[in-house]
Amino acid sequence: MKGIFISIEGNDGSGKSTIINNIKESFKENNIKSLFSREPGGSYVAEKIRQVILDTDNLAMDDVTEALLYAASRRQHLKETIIPALEEGCVVICDRYIDSSLAYQGYARGLGVDEVYNMNMFATKGLMPDLTIYLLVDPEVGLARKTHQKELDRLELEGNSFHKKVYDAYLSLAPRFKDRVVIINGEESIEEVTKKVLEVIYNKIK
Ligand code: ADP
Ligand code: TYD
Repeated sequence: MKGIFISIEGNDGSGKSTIINNIKESFKENNIKSLFSREPGGSYVAEKIRQVILDTDNLAMDDVTEALLYAASRRQHLKETIIPALEEGCVVICDRYIDSSLAYQGYARGLGVDEVYNMNMFATKGLMPDLTIYLLVDPEVGLARKTHQKELDRLELEGNSFHKKVYDAYLSLAPRFKDRVVIINGEESIEEVTKKVLEVIYNKIK
């Protein structure tokens, strides 16, 4: 495929949406053919699966069911949105991808990173990002940023210890995927984080 696939990862409130908006602005200024998407969601069917996953009415959802739904949403998103864009030569920027499942379901829920990885290999036929940025902030800082903002979804309702596990998971996943993963400290100013993220991205796509 002609395009380049970049995922942005991080714990809740790490600033992904904010930074992705800034990437979008920069790509517009530089006329870069691109597609911006997010998980769970990013296509009609996948957005429906997202509603089921994040609905705070679904507190009874089993952890394995949750992992399967994320993988199902990812499959549909790939097929309908990401693969066509990569075939057209776009730079695809995706807010979360497989590493979120490894960190949240594999590690924080305790399903096992390898088990969740294998499930996702089936769902994606092994399509991995060319570059993944882990934007990391202290999990309590991330959650505090979120609580001021909006109603919390089902995952955000999890306690601090869950989010600490997610943070630790990213740190332990980074060396395993060192060929594609770059860690950036999300606790610096928005301007500084944006500058660093853009540097890494332009380096990859130039
Ligand atoms: P995410 O998409 O990772 O959950 P958001 O981009 O929605 O995070 O950011 C959560 C909140 O934190 C927003 O109110 C945003 O303005 C703020 N924020 C984002 N990045 C920073 C930063 N580097 N420093 C301080 N606040 C930030
Ligand atoms: P989202 O609204 O995208 O949160 P954020 O703005 O923090 O990125 O909600 C997605 C939630 O789903 C978030 O808490 C992370 C979680 N998630 C998983 O647990 N596994 C996954 O595979 C993905 C893609 C997301």
